[in-house]
Amino acid sequence: MYTLACIECGKEYDPDTVIYTCECGGLLEVRFDLDSLEINFKLDGRGMKVWKYRDLLPVTTDPVTINEGGTPLYRCEKLGKVYGIENLFVKHEGMNPSGSFKDRGMTVGVTKAIELGRTAVACASTGNTSASMAMYAAKGGLVAVVLLPKGKVAMGKVAQALIYGAKVLAIRGNFDIALELVRAVADRLGFYLLNSLNPFRLEGQKTIAFEIVDELGYVPERIVLPVGNAGNISAIYKGFNELRELGFIDSVPRMTGIQAEGARPVVDAYENGMSDIIPYGSPETLATAIRIGNPVNAVKALKAIRESGGVALSVSDEEIISAQKDLARIEGIGVEPASAASIAGLKKLIERGEISRDDDVVCVVTGHLLKDPEEIISVCDNPLEVDPDINEIRRAISTDK
Ligand code: F0G
Repeated sequence: MYTLACIECGKEYDPDTVIYTCECGGLLEVRFDLDSLEINFKLDGRGMKVWKYRDLLPVTTDPVTINEGGTPLYRCEKLGKVYGIENLFVKHEGMNPSGSFKDRGMTVGVTKAIELGRTAVACASTGNTSASMAMYAAKGGLVAVVLLPKGKVAMGKVAQALIYGAKVLAIRGNFDIALELVRAVADRLGFYLLNSLNPFRLEGQKTIAFEIVDELGYVPERIVLPVGNAGNISAIYKGFNELRELGFIDSVPRMTGIQAEGARPVVDAYENGMSDIIPYGSPETLATAIRIGNPVNAVKALKAIRESGGVALSVSDEEIISAQKDLARIEGIGVEPASAASIAGLKKLIERGEISRDDDVVCVVTGHLLKDPEEIISVCDNPLEVDPDINEIRRAISTDK
């Protein structure tokens, strides 16, 4: 029904082999024999959640699930008007059980780990992957180990990994170093690796594409989303392609990836016509979720962007903060900084005329506002301290902007 195949040399592997990259070094993907597949779900806008689409998910056992997916797709007319676009939708992946899109991948990845007889899982993370993996490992009864870049993970995410009972290690190094290390940990200590290098995890994330078509009833012109390790944009593109091959839709959206200015290897490669990135040694951005210098899925992401006629673009931290505030204050949608990168990117593309007024655009916002309260406190005015007196309060209100 499906195999694991290398995207570079085409070599196929038994999907029950525990392997994360091809012998040739290429990335792997799950490949379904779509012609022989029986599809029992309908894209009728009903009962959306990850496991609605299980005919296209590569597991056969009962899933380890916490009701992931089925996230709101908001029509944002007010923000659209301010930015100059008529049909703007925002898919709020922060409304997943652990507060990020990672849950879609982890429900599949942890189920696969159990199917393969594994009892322990591991990941490196800028925060959300670890929160999600720890949660599903708890539910599935697995041991979880997470490697975090010390001092560079938002507080809410660390708290999640801790309460779900993972072994949390703060590595004196950045995410890219932690990822290299955890690959060695997985190899040598027998942990099942659940970073986005794991092709089964990405299968869960492709359901974002399924839900967008399911809910809208048509294919939007463009999907805009933040890019870090570059797994999500690749997964969503794969999802659209499968729907097209199955005849549900006849086009795919332009995949538009947004990175932070201080961590933009994919944008550099896109602009220079390269098929792979040159890593950044010291990536830097306040959007710590995407503070990544050596994205492992870059080759897949660049292919997704180019093939679909999309674009890769970077935004500054100031633009991210401003977009985060716009989305919160105009639409009441609260997201963490990395997620706001998609909104900041949208604004820039409209200003540059690359997105026109009548394009249908879906921005995917990837993580919840409460993930990173420290960033919010640092970019908003502090609460005004007042004496417990009505006149003091009146004075404070009238001077507060
Ligand atoms: N947005 C958020 C909130 C994220 O946490 C991440 C990635 C991304 C966007 C980028 O997604 O890596 O698939 O391109 N976070 C990972 C983590 C790296 O460890 O939580 P990507």
